Amino acid sequence: MRSLREFRSGRPGSYPDQSVYAAFACAEFGLTFRDLDGGSGLVFSVASPIKTIHFGAGRCAWYPQNNSTSATLASDKYFTNKILEDKGIATLGGEYFFLHDRHRAHRPAGHERQDASEYFHKLGAAAFVKPLQGSRGDFAQAIHGEAALDRYLQDVARYYDSILIQPISSGNEYRIFLLDDEVVYAARKYPPSIEGDGVRSIRDLLVAHNAALQARGLSPASAKRDTSLDTVLARGERWDIPGRMNLSAGGTMRIEAPRTEAAITTAKQAARTLGLRVAAIDLFADVTGGQDAIRIIEVNSNPSIRLLEDSGRGDLILKIWRHTFSAMGLL
Ligand SMILES: Nc1ncnc2c1ncn2[C@@H]1O[C@H](COP(=O)(O)OP(=O)(O)O)[C@@H](O)[C@H]1O
Ligand SMILES: [Mg+2]
Repeated sequence: MRSLREFRSGRPGSYPDQSVYAAFACAEFGLTFRDLDGGSGLVFSVASPIKTIHFGAGRCAWYPQNNSTSATLASDKYFTNKILEDKGIATLGGEYFFLHDRHRAHRPAGHERQDASEYFHKLGAAAFVKPLQGSRGDFAQAIHGEAALDRYLQDVARYYDSILIQPISSGNEYRIFLLDDEVVYAARKYPPSIEGDGVRSIRDLLVAHNAALQARGLSPASAKRDTSLDTVLARGERWDIPGRMNLSAGGTMRIEAPRTEAAITTAKQAARTLGLRVAAIDLFADVTGGQDAIRIIEVNSNPSIRLLEDSGRGDLILKIWRHTFSAMGLL
């Protein structure tokens, strides 16, 4: 196997991960990778002697073996929940609301700003809120109190048109990556954390953490506003930032099997129900109240596989791209 590093080296930070992996897989499988945009990696083709297919970064899907209806359904967290619940698969539930009036004529009543406020109160003025079609953990956070909801809605409305409000849940979080019915890897997710220097308060360390997130186009970490943030951590002491555990938002992922087989079974059912051939299922296992309790957080139909590069698992990157190329008739 060639070294993945060779395909990464010299690329700017903006270069799409999947374009690196596709070029790597092409070299390994004897296919021709051709950049169509002067080396940006944004648009490229992959060709065998008899067939060519195209890929693009940005909003393009990396996995053409997923049909577009299934993938679009999965990218809407409310549609996904409805479909899974209809099959008896537990989700985190919730209701969706719109942030702008513009398309009001095209939707049923009950999903406007005022309705969001009422639903939030029904949940005891504490809820987990996220963009309906968000990703990377952007604006996914727990909100406590009406004033915090107001501030959040003002901020999120600058970037998104709709949100999902749901009860705050917890549990051990896992990602199960599936190709058809096979588990390619399972990983446990851990929260982002900051490390003390014996001088700065948690609040000050969070400012630095948030500046790094902002530079990558992500909303700041949300921590409850209270005096505990004035604590100065000892040098090397770690403090977990509560909430989203996305890798993109500074979380950590480790390849690790869930403790119960039920997590795998449920993940497979979820992917099958949505009709996805490639899916990364995020779930809470061991949800409070039951050893075997599993709740689906979300279903990713266009998952990043950066974890595999970071974990030195180029073999699994090849396995995923082999599936894609085979499904498309290139191999
Ligand atoms: N209802 C919830 N309660 C507690 N934490 C949640 C809840 N929903 C999501 N999370 C946390 O936030 C992260 C991001 O949420 P998710 O729905 O996966 O959105 P995204 O598409 O941005 O990844 C999850 O991986 C999980 O750590
Ligand atoms: Mg997610």
